Formats: sequence, C-alpha cells, structure tokens
Amino acid sequence: MREGQILFTYLHLAAAQELGAELVKRKVSGVAYETIETDDRRLPLLTPMSAVAGRMSVQAGASFLEKERGGKGILLGGVPGVRRGRVCIIGGGVVGANAARMAIGLGARVTVLDINQDVLTYLDDIYEGRIHTLYSDPFTVEAAVAKADLVIGAVLVAGARAPRLVTEAMIRNMEPGSVIVDVAVDQGGCVETCRPTTHEDPTYLVHGVIHYCVANMPGAVPRTSTFALANATMPYVKALAQKGLEKAAADDPVMARGVNTYRGGVTHPAVAEALGQPYTPLSV
Ligand SMILES: NC(=O)c1ccc[n+]([C@@H]2O[C@H](COP(=O)([O-])OP(=O)(O)OC[C@H]3O[C@@H](n4cnc5c(N)ncnc54)[C@H](O)[C@@H]3O)[C@@H](O)[C@H]2O)c1
Repeated sequence: MREGQILFTYLHLAAAQELGAELVKRKVSGVAYETIETDDRRLPLLTPMSAVAGRMSVQAGASFLEKERGGKGILLGGVPGVRRGRVCIIGGGVVGANAARMAIGLGARVTVLDINQDVLTYLDDIYEGRIHTLYSDPFTVEAAVAKADLVIGAVLVAGARAPRLVTEAMIRNMEPGSVIVDVAVDQGGCVETCRPTTHEDPTYLVHGVIHYCVANMPGAVPRTSTFALANATMPYVKALAQKGLEKAAADDPVMARGVNTYRGGVTHPAVAEALGQPYTPLSV
C-alpha cells in the first residue's frame, strides 16, 4: 500500500501494533469500522455483527444442549407438561437483546441480567412479562447460572477487558451437560474458564459444562453477516467515494472518529495510546 490510499475496514490497531506502525510508515489513511462512533456513543458498524452473534448464540446453545452433541438433552421450548429450558443471558445490550429475542421465540424461560437499569426497563417493557430481568451482582449471577441450562455471556465494558462475572466455582455448580456460549470471548470473555475457539472445533468441556467460545461467530453465516455489514457501511463508503476522506471527515464527526491514521500520524487518542505513538488530532 502507498501514501494517500484509504483502508476502510475493521482495523483493531490496538491489538495489531505491526499493522498500525506500517499504516503510519506508509502514510495510509486507516479508517476503522470499530471507532466510527455516533454522538450518543453507539458503534453502528459493530452493531450488525453483535446482532448476528446474539441471534446465533441461542441457535448454537440449543444445538449443543442436544444429547448427541454432548448436552444434557433439553429442548429449550419444552413441550406441554415438561419444563422449558432455562436461558440466562448476562448483559442485555445488542448481543443480549438479540439472544433474548431468539430464546423467547423458541419458548425458553429467559432471564437477562444487566447493571444498566434502562436496559432492564426496556426489555421488561417490550416483552411484557415473558422475560425475567435481574440486576447483575455476583450473588444474583451465581444463583441464575446455577439454575440455567444455557448461559450466554454478552457483557461489554467499553474499552476494557470483559469482567469475569462467572467464576470457575459457579461452573462447578452447574448441571453436567449444560452449555455456556461466551460471546464476549473476543474481549477476553466474561466466564473465568473461557478461552477462544474456532468454528472447526468450537467447544470444550470444563467440569462437565460445554463451553462454546468462538471468537468470530458471524463467520459461520457469512451471507447474512456480509449483507448486514454492507448495509451499515455503505453510506460511509459512498461518502468516501463521492467526497474523498478530507471532506467526508470534515462534514461528519462520526466519520472523523473513524480515522485512526492519516498522513503518517495516529489520529485517534485511544489508538495512539495503545500503539505508544503521539496523538495527532485530525486536521482536514
Ligand atoms: N464472538 C463474536 O463473534 C462476537 C460478535 C459480536 C460481538 N461480540 C462481543 O459481544 C460482547 C457484547 O457486545 P454488545 O454489542 O452486545 O455490547 P453492548 O455494549 O451493546 O452490551 C453490553 C451490555 O453489557 C452490560 N454490562 C456491563 N457490565 C455488566 C455486568 N457487570 N453485568 C451485567 N451486564 C453488564 C452493559 O450494561 C450493556 O448493556 C462484546 O464483547 C463484543 O465484542 C462477539
């Protein structure tokens, strides 16, 4: 790549120092999907992947609960006269809300834990009694996890490693054949026993509990994921193509926040800090 080119994609430069250094050296304009941020702090180019992963988490969990796949042999929806599967979702953001939607659709008994009262209120409102919401604290997490057939980890603390909310002791308390899908694995996981896996070999056992910790879940459904992502990125691609980077960034602060490297400087404060390089505010 050479000076003046624009690279617009997921960059994750904080975790890819070599790439960051090379973009700076070659004076490439690196515009990162993950730092395109709205004024109300949403990340519109991460949302579609979280929606895919959230919806997939229930599908994956339901599948691994089947006996043939090592699970305890529970159907999430139950049948008349037999209890429903219990799904515990920790974190009710984009991943958690999408997981809840799928789990409720399957007829499971769904509990969502979060520390944000607005998130709990919203879910309580839209599902009108078909969902249990609980404020997340260590005691509540422990009780909810112990009873669950399927636990979904969907926590995010912006800019930080995921907090380890489910400890190994809690896992030991779960029934054998239960399933944990830790979607937050890409931020380190919110389950103490989580380690990243791939679609080729997605699960492993700890204390008889199946762990599914695939770091790139949307990769399993690339058609859906690609269309979803392209829908979200297209307005920015058009702005870049029609106006060029300078005018697109000058016209739209959301786009400007996406610019990580420009003319040999690092133009995003958090990225500069992570790369150990000086921060050069973007001037276009
Ligand atoms: N594995 C994958 O393929 C994949 C794909 C997409 C997203 N993710 C990851 O999934 C995670 C969730 O993403 P998101 O888009 O839903 O984030 P989000 O910000 O929309 O939601 C995170 C939620 O976690 C809640 N939370 C924070 N601390 C908590 C605590 N102590 N207890 C309970 N809840 C708490 C927040 O209040 C928020 O509602 C992120 O780590 C993201 O990187 C993984």
